[in-house]
Amino acid sequence: MDGNGRWAKSHGMERSAGHLEGVNTVHTITQAAGELGVKYLTLYAFSTENWNRPQAEVDSLLNLITYALEKETPGLIENNVKLLIIGDVDRMPAEARARLDRSMEATANGTGLRLIVAFSYSSRWEITRACAKIAEEAAKGELDPATITDETVREHLATAPYPDPDLLIRTGGDFRVSNFLLWQIAYSEIFVSPTFWPDFTREEFEAIIDNFRGRERRFGLTSEQINHTLWKDLINPQCERVP
Ligand code: IPE
Ligand code: MG
Repeated sequence: MDGNGRWAKSHGMERSAGHLEGVNTVHTITQAAGELGVKYLTLYAFSTENWNRPQAEVDSLLNLITYALEKETPGLIENNVKLLIIGDVDRMPAEARARLDRSMEATANGTGLRLIVAFSYSSRWEITRACAKIAEEAAKGELDPATITDETVREHLATAPYPDPDLLIRTGGDFRVSNFLLWQIAYSEIFVSPTFWPDFTREEFEAIIDNFRGRERRFGLTSEQINHTLWKDLINPQCERVP
């Protein structure tokens, strides 16, 4: 969700006004994803690196997530959404953390859209943590290093219960990944939109999903292979992991 600051600047406003406007887009896109039958929507809300922004902006983002959770949780429950989090939430101040825990608890029985918020998240943090956990298990003798596979790594990521993303959308026009789900997006389809996040609409979201539907995903195989009826056995062995 990029472009809040530039959106604000283009309207002669403070950056925080862009973040506030961005919350409306979160509402719109979450609603649309649920209605379109998307099963998992991961929103990159705040990165590990974002902690290094000016303190006033960090504080305003923390206040905003607290406010947004307060405001949006009843709607999430109503729409059967289950709120989940990935990231180093221990770095969050107690009040924001408590609000987050309450919202997750309140939506725990949701059976519809999984809304995964990446907060205080970075892929390098996540992969480093996975390595540390694996090393610890090996040191304790619970794991034989010779048996480590990519599945072992996957199981130790914060996203272990969820499938890899099919589609990655970046708003704000920059062609980079910015430490987001580096492991998980190995075969994701990528779409960069020039639209600043506060201006991103349901219509554009739907158009991107339509574009995605038209792409041929080969997962390193040939077109002939993936058109063979048994292709599903060759690729993507980890579709559809429901937590
Ligand atoms: C994305 O918007 C929101 C967060 C990173 C929290 P930015 O704040 O990065 O907006 P730009 O990139 O400066 O326009
Ligand atoms: Mg940015």
